[in-house]
Amino acid sequence: MPLSSESVRLPRSPGFVSLVGAGPGSPDLLTLRGLRTLQQAEVILYDSLLEPSFAELFPKDAQAIPVGKRCGGLGTPQDHIHHLLLKHARRGRRVVRLKGGDPLLFGRGGEEAQRLEAAGIPFELVPGVSALQGAASASGIPLTHRGASREVRILEGHHLLESDTDWPELARTRATLAIFMGTRTLRQVAQRLLLHGASPDLPVALVEKATCEGQTTTISSLRLAAAGHLCPRTEGPGLVYMGAAIGQRVHPTLPERPLLSEAILHDPGPPLPQPAAQAGPPGGGRRRRAG
Ligand SMILES: C[S@@+](CC[C@H](N)C(=O)[O-])C[C@H]1O[C@@H](n2cnc3c(N)ncnc32)[C@H](O)[C@@H]1O
Repeated sequence: MPLSSESVRLPRSPGFVSLVGAGPGSPDLLTLRGLRTLQQAEVILYDSLLEPSFAELFPKDAQAIPVGKRCGGLGTPQDHIHHLLLKHARRGRRVVRLKGGDPLLFGRGGEEAQRLEAAGIPFELVPGVSALQGAASASGIPLTHRGASREVRILEGHHLLESDTDWPELARTRATLAIFMGTRTLRQVAQRLLLHGASPDLPVALVEKATCEGQTTTISSLRLAAAGHLCPRTEGPGLVYMGAAIGQRVHPTLPERPLLSEAILHDPGPPLPQPAAQAGPPGGGRRRRAG
């Protein structure tokens, strides 16, 4: 299909909202359709978590409004985001809601779309590359790999601990687990999995700031994660992967980016290090910087 800008020209009235996936981090991973849609926007409501360089892609005369929250801190209430979407659309404007990753994966894009639909506002969804694939590919981690894993489970860190998770089943699965918003609960999740019979040697990876400057990959094991040794090394978002497929990791030739680094936490083997009484990163585990 030809990709002419004609194919994504948006109606002017009574306003139109595009929920656009911005991709996993780096602006050059925004899709072509996403870029074209963005370039026609009159109002852009963008996630505060997005890389600042996205602003270079915004039309000069567009009204750009940051919304959402950074690193779990206080941010724009979701109801206010809905209010802004409806307000600008009802004024007949072309509105882009630019959301990290894919709009419908842990991004509350579904709620925003439902609100627009209920209000009778025409809208579209422009898919984005999720951090699910972005962080994996950028760090050479296959999500599936013949002989290692044929399934991917997409999970949410807080929810895992708060809901009626079937821990024995999760501990048994051969699926690759991808845990969003899972850095804070990683230690507890790993402890539960061990308790229910998962292998202490199960590979665990933490990919932070994937595809952005400062991307960091830390490879470890379930045993060390349960002992609190696998801690974030940046202030950026992080995605946790667990599963045998991580052991099949490759090392792509990455473009030179300052601070791009990876670390491997070497497992000293049994006995399991005793967690401190108060949770907190002991900063343990021997680290080897590989790049
Ligand atoms: C609210 S969710 C949004 C997910 C997004 N809709 C997607 O499809 O990737 C935010 C979480 O996604 C993960 N994430 C997003 N961008 C990331 C990145 N560049 N590197 C690592 N993890 C990322 C982190 O787990 C973060 O806490």
